[in-house]
Amino acid sequence: MIRQPKPHRSGALPPKFAPEVIPHHVALVMDGNGRWAQERGLPRTAGHEAGEAALFDVVEGAIEIGIKEISAFAFSTENWRRSPDEVKFLMGFNRDVIRRRRDEMNELGVRVRWVGRPKKLWTSVIKELETAEKLTADNDVLTLNMCVNYGGRAEIVDAATALAQDVKEGKIDVSSITEKVFIKYLDEPKMSDVDLFLRSSGEMRTSNFLPWQSVYAEMVFMDILWPDVDRRVLWRAVEEYALRNRRFGKA
Ligand code: IPE
Ligand code: IPE
Ligand code: MG
Repeated sequence: MIRQPKPHRSGALPPKFAPEVIPHHVALVMDGNGRWAQERGLPRTAGHEAGEAALFDVVEGAIEIGIKEISAFAFSTENWRRSPDEVKFLMGFNRDVIRRRRDEMNELGVRVRWVGRPKKLWTSVIKELETAEKLTADNDVLTLNMCVNYGGRAEIVDAATALAQDVKEGKIDVSSITEKVFIKYLDEPKMSDVDLFLRSSGEMRTSNFLPWQSVYAEMVFMDILWPDVDRRVLWRAVEEYALRNRRFGKA
């Protein structure tokens, strides 16, 4: 039995959107946790903890308006450059969040998928991600791509390497390589193109998130730190998205 999302604690209801202005796939760069904590004189890790509720509120708000796919940037291939203490915290935290939230995601009909590289990632994190994937495999209300140890360039290089290997083994002819063929080698071939790329914290960059999938995404940068985000921020971003004129190269 799938349950409906609970309304936001403020009682706020989603604006009325025409179905055609709802983005199918929203990418989230959940940035600003460290600054949120710093502003309060707390350790950076407290900011990551405070960011958990923001993500799951956004997921419920996304379901309320009919968004079908969310990709959440939880840990990048560049985040290994942080202090060993923070990296260790983030690994354990990701593992715990996935475990703690999987039943709730399943009740909401959310399908969880892991997108990222296994290399260096803690085995316990991979285990939790795979358990959540299995548990939620048949759900279709919304797909939540948890991007853990994800990097866009890493994804493209890994794909090119696997493709080169298949060419070498004679499994595929060089002349038959197209975008459609290449996509099959990406971390998650079934991921759709990103429609709305949303970043919190005021930074205006993509930081290596979903470059292949975001070439025609509408970019919305919000001046709010991730732990302060909730579904109303997503709805505001969709309002902005609805005003954009997407042309995809056409005149
Ligand atoms: C985003 O918040 C979370 C991760 C990158 C894991 P940050 O930790 O980057 O917070 P700021 O950008 O330093 O404030
Ligand atoms: C992007 O944020 C990665 C995640 C949100 C997981 P960063 O904080 O790592 O990005 P930069 O370093 O500001 O570009
Ligand atoms: Mg940051």
